[in-house]
Parts: sequence; C-alpha cells; structure tokens
Amino acid sequence: MDLTLKVWRQKDKNSPGQMVTYPIKGISPDMSFLEMLDVLNEDILLRGEDPIAFDHDCREGICGMCSLFINGRPHGPERGTTTCQLHMRHFKDGETITIEPWRAAAFPVHKDLVVDRSAFDRIQQAGGYVSVNTGGVPDANAIPISKSIADKAFDAATCIQCGACVAACKNASAMLFVSAKVSQLSLLPQGQAERKTRVENMVAQMDIEGFGACTNTGACAAECPVGISLENINMLRREFIAAKATSENL
Ligand code: SF4
Ligand code: FES
Repeated sequence: MDLTLKVWRQKDKNSPGQMVTYPIKGISPDMSFLEMLDVLNEDILLRGEDPIAFDHDCREGICGMCSLFINGRPHGPERGTTTCQLHMRHFKDGETITIEPWRAAAFPVHKDLVVDRSAFDRIQQAGGYVSVNTGGVPDANAIPISKSIADKAFDAATCIQCGACVAACKNASAMLFVSAKVSQLSLLPQGQAERKTRVENMVAQMDIEGFGACTNTGACAAECPVGISLENINMLRREFIAAKATSENL
C-alpha cells in the first residue's frame, strides 16, 4: 500500500505545531498502525531528521498508551479497537490519513503525538483505590457477590485509561473514565468504606484538572475501545447526588 500521512508535529508544549505531509510506500495491509509508523520513522531517521514521537507500550490493547486521533476519530475507524490493534487493511491503497494527538486542554501536548495524561493519574489518586484491609484471598466460590454485580464491576474495571473518551467529547469531558473507576469500586463490598469520599474527591479533582462538563452526547462510549457503557455515567451521577446529600462538603 502507498499512503500519504498528514502528521501533527510539535517540538514541545511551548512551541506551535503544524501538520506535516509524509508519503510512505510499500506498507503491508497486515501491519498494525504503529508498525506502519515505525516504518515511517525509519525513513525519517535515515534522512537524519527527528522521528515522530508517539506513545505505546503493550501493543496488545491492554495498557491504553497508544493515543492517536486518526482521520478525526480516537483510535481510528474500527469500533472497539485500540490504535495498536488497528491494522492497515482497514485503509485503502492511496489513501491520505491524518494523525493527530488527543485534543483537550487537560491533556497538553508533550511532543508531536504524545500528550500528558497525568490528569487521569491525579483523579485516580484522589479516590480510585481501596484502603481498607480486605484480608487474605478467599476461595473463588465463597465470594459473597452476585454474578450480575461481579460482571458489572468487571466491565467497569476494563477501562484502560486511554483518554479516547475525552478526545471524542466535544466538551473534553472525563465523565466516562471517572464513572468507570467509581462504578467499579462502589459496586464491590471492599469499596463501601470510602464510597462517599471517593466520588466527591474524584469529581472535584476532575473539575480542578479542567475537563469539560458532560452533555450526554454519548460520543465517549461510541469511541471507547473497551465498550465502557454510559450506564456508568448514570451510576456516577447517582453516587454523587447520594454522597452530597449527606456530605459535610456541601
Ligand atoms: S472509559 Fe474507555 S475511552 Fe475512556 S479512558 Fe476508559 S477505556 Fe479509554
Ligand atoms: S500500546 Fe497498549 S493499548 Fe495500545
């Protein structure tokens, strides 16, 4: 496949960026999108130029690092797929592909396609944990949680913290991410001790970080690579209202 790539290049967070066009030839349809970028970077290095910086780690759809905005969509055109699991057969020979970083004030660009997503870490630190002593590991068949609750908690726990929900949202809202983390812990017995303070503190930190408000467009869930449901946002709202109703932080 021969392609034309329009890639966002930005030296650092204080420099202005611009789209730069790169023709690339001989790409196999079986390559992943990141392997295609590896080939492009080899070409760029051979010319003695600065290679394109982009995030990745596992390349198995697990870590959530590969945050690319491809042809106007987070993680590209395939639903339920991270950028590292996207293959070039989903593009046409001769196609022009635009590649940009996540666009959100709370995710400033470090360099080229790499953004700073530490805002998510700070939201997690504000309450996305369990600090009670849960004892030793019980037998699997002795856990007093119904299958339906365990399934919901597990589904919420599949969030890989990639930030595609923020990138997809016209308001750059982090509600889907925060709701997944809140739901996961609030559904489980070990999450009850900090249930109220967790949702209050995580929502407060989300606001401090500068994420936008949720206006229920559903773009986040449509682009989430692991299928986190909007049901979690409903649960986050219920949890927040219940916590505030009895809170000392009104
Ligand atoms: S909710 Fe989905 S899109 Fe948002 S951070 Fe988690 S996995 Fe990524
Ligand atoms: S590199 Fe880990 S999810 Fe894509």
